Order: sequence, then C-alpha cells, then structure tokens
Amino acid sequence: MVSFKPLAAAALLAQVSFASPALSTRAEGVHLFNCRPSSNNVAQTWQSLVVYCANDSDCGNPGYNPSSDNVCVKSSSGTAWNYHIWEGGSQSCTFPTGVKFSWNISSNAQAQPNYSTVGKGSNGYRSFTGYKDDHGAAVSYNSHSCEKIYYYL
Ligand SMILES: *[C@@H]1O[C@H](CO)[C@@H](O)[C@H](O)[C@H]1NC(C)=O
Ligand SMILES: *[C@@H]1O[C@H](CO)[C@@H](O)[C@H](O)[C@H]1NC(C)=O
Ligand SMILES: *[C@@H]1O[C@H](CO)[C@@H](O)[C@H](O)[C@H]1NC(C)=O
Repeated sequence: MVSFKPLAAAALLAQVSFASPALSTRAEGVHLFNCRPSSNNVAQTWQSLVVYCANDSDCGNPGYNPSSDNVCVKSSSGTAWNYHIWEGGSQSCTFPTGVKFSWNISSNAQAQPNYSTVGKGSNGYRSFTGYKDDHGAAVSYNSHSCEKIYYYL
C-alpha cells in the first residue's frame, strides 16, 4: 500500500491545480476617466467615462479598448478640456446594460495622496471602495485617450 501513497498525493495535487483556475477570481473594478480626442481626425469631444473592467488590470492598460456595454458616458463636451466634476455628493451613471453605478467622492479628494480612499460606490449588487488614481494613461475608447482619475474596487 505504501507504494500507492505518492500516486494518491500526485493525483490530489493534479486535482487541486486543475481546479484552481476556475477558483481564482478576476478582480473587477470600475474606473472614472477623463478622455480627450487622441487625434485631430476624431470628434473633438472631451468625455468623462465610467468604465467597468471584469479584470481590473485591463482598465489601466492604454492598449485596452473596452466594449461599449462596459462604458457609461457621464459627460461629453465640445469645449476643450471641459470634463465632468466627479467630486461631491452622490452621483451615478447607467450603463447600456441597465446597470447603474453610484458613487460619492469627498470634495477635497484631488488634494489627497494618490491611491487614498475617497468614497464609496455601488453597482446594486455589492459595495465598492473608491480611491484617487494617479492621472496616468489608461484605456483608449472611441479614438479618445483616457486618463485615470478615480477607481473603485
Ligand atoms: C488580467 O489582465 C492582465 C493584463 O491586463 C493579465 O496579465 C492577467 O492575466 C489577467 N487576469 C485574468 C485572471 O484574466
Ligand atoms: C459616501 O456615502 C457613504 C454612505 O453611503 C458615507 O458613509 C460617506 O461618508 C460618503 N462619503 C462622501 C465622501 O460623501
Ligand atoms: C500621483 O502620481 C503621479 C504619477 O506618478 C504624480 O505625477 C503625481 O505627482 C502624484 N500626485 C500626488 C498627489 O501624489
């Protein structure tokens, strides 16, 4: 029987490693972006977007182009650099899927250090914690380049 023990252990390990990809969770995130036209050939709109990423790290990737179902246009302006004011009391944006994301951000959030906690969020299914982001480059959407302002995990 002793000779079977290593086999049993190997079988158990194989089972565990086979199961782990299904068990690992892809951490989702919701990002608030300010996006500017990336060239003179595209619509000259300055947009503030709420973007959902099932895999949160996608939302920080300038090469990532989220699908329109995962983008909620909070504001779109023909006036250069005219973005939505994210800070203040309760705000929300309803995605094309009908999911509404609600959030609040302290009015002095931009004066806080990067990655500070700035408020709360909810998609109706669970609550999120909001953080100040570092204004680095993020996703491209609809020929616009997006800048990271806040994110919710
Ligand atoms: C999430 O995306 C990153 C790159 O953006 C990738 O490295 C990682 O493997 C992805 N994770 C999952 C679970 O898909
Ligand atoms: C956000 O709302 C929560 C309750 O939903 C409240 O506890 C918190 O103080 C609010 N924060 C801001 C910055 O408005
Ligand atoms: C946030 O990070 C960016 C990019 O690294 C940096 O330029 C900026 O000064 C930081 N802001 C604060 C408030 O720390």
